[in-house]
Amino acid sequence: MKNLKRNLTIAGASLAVFTHAAWAQFPDKPVTLVVPFAAGGPSDKIARDLAEALRKPLGQTIIVDNTAGAGGTIGAARVARAKPDGYTLLVHHIGLATAPALYKKLPYNTLTDFEYLGLINEAPSVLIGRTTLAANNLSELRKWMADSDGRVNLANAGVGSASHLCGLMLQSALKSKMTTVPYKGTAPAMTDLIGGQVDLMCEQATNAVPQIEGNKVKVYGVSSTDRLALPSLAQTPTLSEAGLPGFNVTVWHGLYAPRGTPPDVLARLNAAMRTALKDPDLIKRQEALGLRVVTDSRLAPAGHKTFVQGEMERWTKVIKDSGETAE
Ligand code: MLT
Repeated sequence: MKNLKRNLTIAGASLAVFTHAAWAQFPDKPVTLVVPFAAGGPSDKIARDLAEALRKPLGQTIIVDNTAGAGGTIGAARVARAKPDGYTLLVHHIGLATAPALYKKLPYNTLTDFEYLGLINEAPSVLIGRTTLAANNLSELRKWMADSDGRVNLANAGVGSASHLCGLMLQSALKSKMTTVPYKGTAPAMTDLIGGQVDLMCEQATNAVPQIEGNKVKVYGVSSTDRLALPSLAQTPTLSEAGLPGFNVTVWHGLYAPRGTPPDVLARLNAAMRTALKDPDLIKRQEALGLRVVTDSRLAPAGHKTFVQGEMERWTKVIKDSGETAE
């Protein structure tokens, strides 16, 4: 009996050493970042910047995998079900926090099925319109909308997309219903806005800034509390300044692992992410699109999770008031 106990203790100790050694080597193969949206879109651009900057601190290839569909819920569900070993991670935006209020049934729980690794960036959106719109600022736009007798088309990148959410907040702030036109992603929505087939879109700066700078769309205001720190948009007011006091929609992206990922692996990933977010090339690329890399307490898992909980509460009211639901 004594011997059995001793053997078990030795076996337990070796397992602990083995486990520790295994995690100490993490990662010893490529890591996959799942992006729950299409390639070429705003989330994909951010994930690819992060993947590039993570390569050095993790010493491994980082693969970006676009698992798009259903407002990001398909990709999120994939990561929630993935092996919790740190090799499959999720880069998701604000939609992770808003999906529980929007979707009747979700295949994961936003708060309990993921390990929170840290917030990556904040991405303001901008209200943009087709170039042929007569209105040149928000008050002219409001007048034009009032005269249009409800026939205003507002494009978005699909139910649950950031542009859909910004559109909901916009209609609530304007106390006016528009005809929302959901597209299969940001690219076709932007193509139709540029072509004049739809009137307006509240789109992430990542996607909108190049079109504004190329004079392909008109810009009416920035959705966040601060103007964009870009010379080309220095004169563009926030929507709050332009007549919608308190308006604030800021898209953000975070990094997640499946629930149950070992703490050592999470710590290694968080440290690598912090290093990556200090990479001057990444910062430069993000800033050129009007995005802000996170540098505050939301870089830590606890701060990240508390922030997401706050966003869930804030958006639940907006979504419920709008009456929008998704299957
Ligand atoms: C994307 O990358 O396609 C977007 O982040 C989608 C969206 O607007 O939510």
